[in-house]
Amino acid sequence: MSKRLFGIDFGTTTTAFCCFDEDTESYIMFGNDAGHPYHSVIALDKVTGKVAFKGTEAWMKKADLVSTGGLTVVSSVKQKLVSDEVWETNNRIWTPEMVATEIFRIGVDAIRTKWPESKALIEAVVAVPVDFNYEERKAISRAAANAGIYVTQFVSEPTAALIGCDEDLREIRNFLVFDWGGGTLDVSVLKKVGGKFKELAKGTKRDGGDRIDEEFARWVHNSCDTGIPFDMVEPRNKDRLLTRCEQEKRNLSVEKDIKIALPSYHKGLTVRGTITRAEFEAMIKELIDSLIDVMFDTLAKSGLSAEQIDLALMVGGSSQIPMVKREIENIFGSRCSYAQNAEWCIAKGAAKLAAQPGSYTLASDVGIILSDGFFFPVFRNSEPLNHRPVVVTLGLVEDAKEARLIIAEKSSGHNGNASLIGAITLPASGFNFEPIEAIFEVETDLALRVSAVNALTESRRTESRTFTGLKFEYLLHEED
Ligand SMILES: Nc1ncnc2c1ncn2[C@@H]1O[C@H](COP(=O)(O)OP(=O)(O)OP(=O)(O)O)[C@@H](O)[C@H]1O
Ligand SMILES: [Mg+2]
Repeated sequence: MSKRLFGIDFGTTTTAFCCFDEDTESYIMFGNDAGHPYHSVIALDKVTGKVAFKGTEAWMKKADLVSTGGLTVVSSVKQKLVSDEVWETNNRIWTPEMVATEIFRIGVDAIRTKWPESKALIEAVVAVPVDFNYEERKAISRAAANAGIYVTQFVSEPTAALIGCDEDLREIRNFLVFDWGGGTLDVSVLKKVGGKFKELAKGTKRDGGDRIDEEFARWVHNSCDTGIPFDMVEPRNKDRLLTRCEQEKRNLSVEKDIKIALPSYHKGLTVRGTITRAEFEAMIKELIDSLIDVMFDTLAKSGLSAEQIDLALMVGGSSQIPMVKREIENIFGSRCSYAQNAEWCIAKGAAKLAAQPGSYTLASDVGIILSDGFFFPVFRNSEPLNHRPVVVTLGLVEDAKEARLIIAEKSSGHNGNASLIGAITLPASGFNFEPIEAIFEVETDLALRVSAVNALTESRRTESRTFTGLKFEYLLHEED
């Protein structure tokens, strides 16, 4: 029986669903009526406590400045997944995870409408930001499961963007992906070796278009005599100003200047302002500089120079800001381009991976640094990842009161130093050859979990840690 496999780009601002249909060997995108990904917005009815509008429709209600009275509009939930923030309606409390489930349901509903005969659980690869931690990954998996989606694997968003982009990559060797969205900047440097896309380095910053909207709204507020500080403005009015600023920010990517006027703001006052693109750029310059720093740091970690990058692929809505495009072009010149299918490439890349399960291995060996400084590999980059636990037993050779298990990664066949992933500290009794038992496991959420115990100490306390920054290598069948 042929299968349908899905990729999901669950974004701070927009969420894209893509299906690879084995029957037709084609990719099908699921988005709003205008042909774009859905907005990651849910509007709750304050009286009934139920979802009143979802996705783009909910976003339009948010933009519609009068009708939000009876609604609680929730946006950017991806950034709040593990926060304590909740939204209260008359008879129900909504947590971020519950809201995320509703966002996943938008896609599930569309998929079930297209293929009503299919009752099967939807299997999907979900793209996540480079620094999404263990709790956030778990929250995503649970939210998706509640909507009827089984997350088979995660992938880093910029890596998925490269895998799913429509650019012809056949002759290209070194890549940098610059993905700046509503909530985060994610950068990946990748190399293509023997048909495999190998992640060399990843970098991130949790600042996106939302932060610009906030700065912009603050600027508009402060340029008017409202009599109160921005942070004290009633949430509904603040939200209205933020929404308006988001729209005008996008207009500023095409216009040289824009005018804002928002009536019935604080105490019925109209706030207004005119801003030129040059003034706007001065406002965001510091932020953009910090992103360029993240990009150069990531390049430095990859061991490649800017000159060695053959393609700098830009994706994400915020990368459309002319100043961002200019800055990246200044560095990479004609080797830089904005992805042709920027809105969909992450979901498409994730769907491509879903259709080729098991196509990935670790990009480096992962193991332990022994007391003599040698690197002992637990997982080798050349071996397939089977997601089964590996038990390692070590003997303590010093009469210390503490044992430290140092976990590191090292490029195979590379003479250089291993780079540190993290460490686990265990109590020791001070005898030689105390047995330390460690269990290593790379789960399908692509996090490395290590738990260790000193079997000789009285406490026999197991210490566990999860590391999410691993790098992977993807083998994909190239299209002709
Ligand atoms: N033309 C434009 N000019 C400036 N900003 C834009 C433009 N188009 C979209 N944006 C901004 O891009 C952001 C949304 O981008 P995108 O859809 O890539 O984010 P996301 O994938 O939802 O977020 P993330 O990946 O950070 O979780 C919003 O902040 C939006 O205001
Ligand atoms: Mg994104």
